[in-house]
Amino acid sequence: MADKKYIYLQPTPIRIWHWLNALGIVTLCVTGGQIRFPEYVNIFGTYKAAIELHNTAGIVVAISFFLWAFYYLVVARSMVKLYIPNKDDIQHGILRQAKFYFLLFFLGRPNPHHTTPDDKFNPMQKSAYLAIMFILVPLVIVTGILLMNVAPLREAVLMIGGLKLLVGTHFLLACSLCAFLFTHVYLATLGHTPFAHFKPMWTGWEEEVDH
Ligand code: HEM
Repeated sequence: MADKKYIYLQPTPIRIWHWLNALGIVTLCVTGGQIRFPEYVNIFGTYKAAIELHNTAGIVVAISFFLWAFYYLVVARSMVKLYIPNKDDIQHGILRQAKFYFLLFFLGRPNPHHTTPDDKFNPMQKSAYLAIMFILVPLVIVTGILLMNVAPLREAVLMIGGLKLLVGTHFLLACSLCAFLFTHVYLATLGHTPFAHFKPMWTGWEEEVDH
């Protein structure tokens, strides 16, 4: 049997950001469920405890988001290259990748995207991560900060349409993040083995697959 080859895919700061962020977002979803539906969900004892944990997890997610942005913008300078889909990704790549996820994977065919450290996301991942990290997460953070400081930031809250609209927007954004989470974890299991994509997010190293 040929020797296995490994590539270094996930640098340490990104792995720290990712798992801190995942823990934070899962905590936000569960505590948010209790805050929104206290009559059905009671996991953290009191309502106050759920709010305090929700606020703490929100701060962790906000800080780790800046760690992510700082690493890709200032240290690695690879944010644009990795996260912005190119013309071919948009015209053909997304459809090609969707066909793989929906059909070819189940027929045992190889992934059309060859992962390298400079091109580690397939076109669907690029588009999804772009929407999540450039739109959804920043908006959840901004609406969350406003909700944590309604009194001092009263003017800003009124400017964007009032408290009701702010609460509704924050809730809808959170539902979208929650939906992303399930899809994200499922798609991450579609490697050449179910844990093939999880290992590099833990150790940094991904096994190269020879087709
Ligand atoms: C239980 C929760 C989670 C698990 C098990 C998980 C799993 C993974 C795995 C295995 C990867 C590497 C393979 C891939 O790119 O698909 C990954 C990457 C990624 N995940 Fe997650 N994830 C979780 C939560 C989240 C959340 C909440 C977000 C964002 C809000 C997120 C955003 C990302 C991004 C942006 C990447 C690419 C990171 C990079 O290489 O720059 N993940 N995740």
